[in-house]
Amino acid sequence: MSILITIEGGDGSGKSTQARLLSQALIDKGHKVTALREPGGTNLGENLREILNDNQQQHTNLTDLSQLYLFLAARAQLVTERISPILAEPNNVVVCDRYIDSTVAYQGYGVGFDIDFIKQANHYVIGNSKPNLTILIDCPINIALSRTMSRTEKTSRFETKPNEYHERVRKGFIKLANDNHDRWRIIDGTLDKKTLSKQILSLALDVINAPNSNIN
Ligand code: TYD
Repeated sequence: MSILITIEGGDGSGKSTQARLLSQALIDKGHKVTALREPGGTNLGENLREILNDNQQQHTNLTDLSQLYLFLAARAQLVTERISPILAEPNNVVVCDRYIDSTVAYQGYGVGFDIDFIKQANHYVIGNSKPNLTILIDCPINIALSRTMSRTEKTSRFETKPNEYHERVRKGFIKLANDNHDRWRIIDGTLDKKTLSKQILSLALDVINAPNSNIN
């Protein structure tokens, strides 16, 4: 059996850094790891990522509904091209930076599209490629946004949203995690990078080494 671990959190939560550190730590322990990110991981996905992040300001009139469907399209491609074939092989670990829950938190709780519709669409898009473990890196909005402000790259479409939007997204993630303790673990994103990465590695190893995971 193979394992899918997803890392979730708001903008500036540190999740991309932690996803990278986790992948490297698992490789160092001898695991066969594939690191992916959403939107992205395929040609189509990376192209959609450019459009969605819109750093060039060429797609300023992209509607919220168009964005929802583009995130789903990027995911459909990623699952079919990459995640599903990798999970079908034995002893793989896939670490994905964002997945189904980002769409529920951002387009559902953040923007206001119907939560059940998004969950059903996700279900349809991913089929059997369900995460075995989802780690939420939770971080207060003021701390998270001050981190994104200090980044050098151009501000993306999402980082210009009001604080209330980010608050709704944060609460959405927490609700999702609290509704499914089997799959989710919440980590304190204000901890220092090293402590955080140790905690995340330990959670990942718990799942990888669980008796029913069958990972060698
Ligand atoms: P990401 O590249 O993870 O940004 P960062 O690493 O800076 O947190 O994600 C880009 C943006 O896309 C982010 O604001 C969250 C948003 N997003 C959605 O709104 N819905 C989705 O389904 C996904 C996957 C991302």
